[in-house]
Amino acid sequence: MRVYQWEEMSDEQREVVSVAKEQVQRSYCPYSHFHVGAAALLANGEVVRGCNQENAAYPSGLCAERSALFAAGAQYPEQPVTKLAIACYTGGHFTDVPGAPCGACRQVMLETEHRYGGKMEILLYGEKETYVFESAADLLPLIFVKENLKG
Ligand code: THU
Repeated sequence: MRVYQWEEMSDEQREVVSVAKEQVQRSYCPYSHFHVGAAALLANGEVVRGCNQENAAYPSGLCAERSALFAAGAQYPEQPVTKLAIACYTGGHFTDVPGAPCGACRQVMLETEHRYGGKMEILLYGEKETYVFESAADLLPLIFVKENLKG
């Protein structure tokens, strides 16, 4: 993992993080009031947006990361996801420290990376610093993927 200041990131990294930051405004989080925005950059240059979607039946909601990755898979199934950015906002400001994706989102990130056969960079935005992981694999050791189902 590398820690970046805003000005140290590339234009492409800043663009995808900016979309994730915009997306916190669209978060539907009447229960937690914890807004999470996500943005997936595809190989064709498209940026697919996501944000957390909560539900009165709590487990029926979905995290921002998965909403972006599933939307990307639904709209552009042939396009590898090259970057995924996440930003968290609560109490009237972005969190100083980046949010850590939950285990289920890490598993979905790994499936996405594995599906397309290339690395997907993960950018976790925080007001003070942004954490950049070269690959989703850096967030989850000993992965469970398609091959494991073969026994
Ligand atoms: N959440 C995300 O969207 N992504 C994360 O990485 C962590 C948590 C959401 C789920 C729920 O809507 C709210 O944040 C509080 O847990």
